[in-house]
Amino acid sequence: MRKIMLQDIRLHLDHIAIETPQRAAMQEFYCAQLDLSFVEDGADFVALEGRERRLVLVDGVAQKLRYFSLASGDEGDIGKARGLMAGHVETTDISGAFGSDGFCFTDPDGIEIRIVKPSVPNKTHSGLPGRLQHVVVASTQPVEMGAFYQNTVGMRLSDYVLEEDDSLMASFLRSDAEHHSFAVFKGDIAVLDHFSMETNNWNDVRDWADHFATFETQIFWGPGRHGIGNNLFFMVQDPDGNKVEISNELDVLKDDAEAGKWGQDYKAYNLWGEATIRL
Ligand SMILES: [Fe+2]
Repeated sequence: MRKIMLQDIRLHLDHIAIETPQRAAMQEFYCAQLDLSFVEDGADFVALEGRERRLVLVDGVAQKLRYFSLASGDEGDIGKARGLMAGHVETTDISGAFGSDGFCFTDPDGIEIRIVKPSVPNKTHSGLPGRLQHVVVASTQPVEMGAFYQNTVGMRLSDYVLEEDDSLMASFLRSDAEHHSFAVFKGDIAVLDHFSMETNNWNDVRDWADHFATFETQIFWGPGRHGIGNNLFFMVQDPDGNKVEISNELDVLKDDAEAGKWGQDYKAYNLWGEATIRL
């Protein structure tokens, strides 16, 4: 199948919507600790926004990604993208949080991918720097998911991980120059694995850790440096157990960069130490 969208359209992660069975507690956590503010709500959702990051909380189960929204720097790309996707996936209009300018389609796991008008950066927000940059899911069908994102959506494969029997463990996929805006891991069930905020420098990572410490929110994993993507990181967990990553120095790749192949090596996940929590 030919690659469709991203041969000439650059898309970055604009916002994500995650399900939760405890919307009030989650809203409290994200407003206090991720410096997000209320934007709008509906019967079953609340939309929150902070400095370069937007999040929608939707009533549902814990640790499930309902949708993620990709935006182009050029508003005119929405219509172009929809035209390119027509005939390959079923596209539908969107509504709800953060407006209705765009369209959506679903992946093999039923996660909705929205192509949206880029958000206006919130320059008035005083929270710590952290741009919503990537989201990662686990899937029981990593081969089908990886193929869909490469061949139908048209993302480029940056790195992939194989099990000892050479079956596919993980695919890291980019929709612009940054190493990955989306990744899929093999899992026992389909869940949200984590999402990440990219900061400006290592001191920002330190400041975020100090910030979480004021809430007695302990680091779940890290600090370390991922071998895949080469980014500095640590993670905390929200009230639902979703992992929230603070990152810096994520690799930037050229369009024709060859995909990197990794085996079951701790260095893929953490160059600084074993990834005992993740593997
Ligand atoms: Fe990550």
